[in-house]
Amino acid sequence: MTNKSMKHRFINRTALSLAFFLTLLPGIALAQNDVYVPSAENLKSRQEFNDARFGVFLHWGIYSMLASGEWALNDNNLLFEDYKQLAGGFFPSQFDAREWVRQIKASGAGYICLTSRHHDGFSMWDTDRSDFDIMDATPFRRDIIAELAQACREEGIRLHLYYSHLDWGRPDYPLGRTGRRTGRPTGQENYDQYLAFMKGQLEELLTKYGPIGAIWFDGIWDHDIDRTPFDWRLREQYDLIHRLQPGCLVANNHHKAPYEGEDIQIFERDLPGENTAGYSAGQQVSNKLPLETCQTMNGMWGYKITDRNYKSPAQLIQLLVRTAGKGANLLLNIGPQPNGKLPAAAVTRLQQIGEWMKIYGPTVKGTQGGPVAPHAWGVTTSRDDKVYVHILNLEDTTLFLPLEKKIAKAVFFKDGSAVKFTKVPGGITLSLGELPAEPDTVIELTIK
Ligand code: GLC
Repeated sequence: MTNKSMKHRFINRTALSLAFFLTLLPGIALAQNDVYVPSAENLKSRQEFNDARFGVFLHWGIYSMLASGEWALNDNNLLFEDYKQLAGGFFPSQFDAREWVRQIKASGAGYICLTSRHHDGFSMWDTDRSDFDIMDATPFRRDIIAELAQACREEGIRLHLYYSHLDWGRPDYPLGRTGRRTGRPTGQENYDQYLAFMKGQLEELLTKYGPIGAIWFDGIWDHDIDRTPFDWRLREQYDLIHRLQPGCLVANNHHKAPYEGEDIQIFERDLPGENTAGYSAGQQVSNKLPLETCQTMNGMWGYKITDRNYKSPAQLIQLLVRTAGKGANLLLNIGPQPNGKLPAAAVTRLQQIGEWMKIYGPTVKGTQGGPVAPHAWGVTTSRDDKVYVHILNLEDTTLFLPLEKKIAKAVFFKDGSAVKFTKVPGGITLSLGELPAEPDTVIELTIK
């Protein structure tokens, strides 16, 4: 073969592979944005999720021992090599998954979301993908996720798993905005490798522990994708989850409008449509997906010994009701102690919410946001021919409700006693008199 024909062959081949590559390109782009069609099983899970209205979030890991929240490694500029040593002392001697599940279930919560691996990269289960886990790095050597999954199964409550996209310890994680002073070796960033690691871990979580209600991702905000594009290849991960467990819901706390492949929209520390905490600027509320607001019981997610800033039971009940009024779920966080117990202040609050839920559960669970938009005085929820008027903060003795539909009956939900109402143009006026001092006075309206 002459030099010339060799050259031609080379050019032809290059052109061919280029053409082939180009045909793949739209495919790659498509895979990310391809319209996601949820399976029937997934739609069923969404409905069950939506009906629960209330879940409990647990931020627990070796950081609990430092008792200053889950960001301790980053916030104290600790070296990862030093931080890792904590694992050798992690022995939560009083951890009893059944006790947790019983305490949480008694609050009326329908699901529990546990941090399986937070930004420090420590895995709370027996993972084969890393030695920085509960089995290999701690003397405890009990698979926390396995124990919790079993207790949840026994008690009939769903288990969701939080999973961090970012990692402050692994050298292959492409460094983002945080974790810059943990002393990680440089020059080893490799997203392909890190992604393979994450996929391997997700596969473990979704094949070893029975049905998982949701994978709750967090951390892609570590790369400011609006400024510097970073392809997390989320769709590959979402599709993997749905392939392994079609009923598992995909959630991602990215503070943006939902991406294709997600099943829930999350709002951090704010009700859907509000932005008091600064995470939800411009976050359009989806009218298709179930909504979830996550909030702390005190101020911090992970255990913080000095954080006594607990919201009162009445405030928590009102928060739950206000969330339901937006047609959303409340995921209320507790940071378990290093000894494995839920803090006493949290347990008391769970009990008090539970007492309220025993009576009023039906006015939030399985409901939708009601026909009257949320107001300072309270919110409405609805189910079938009932509208529940939740009065949270009203000084007047009458309340006007703009309602299009005719009302046949109005009663106090608690005891069924009649509430006087008058038809007025555009709605009704309730004559309430003096209301009892309780966090939420619920009036049930029956639509004609
Ligand atoms: C934020 C925090 C993280 C926490 C999460 C819970 O993303 O950085 O630590 O786990 O909120 O919503």
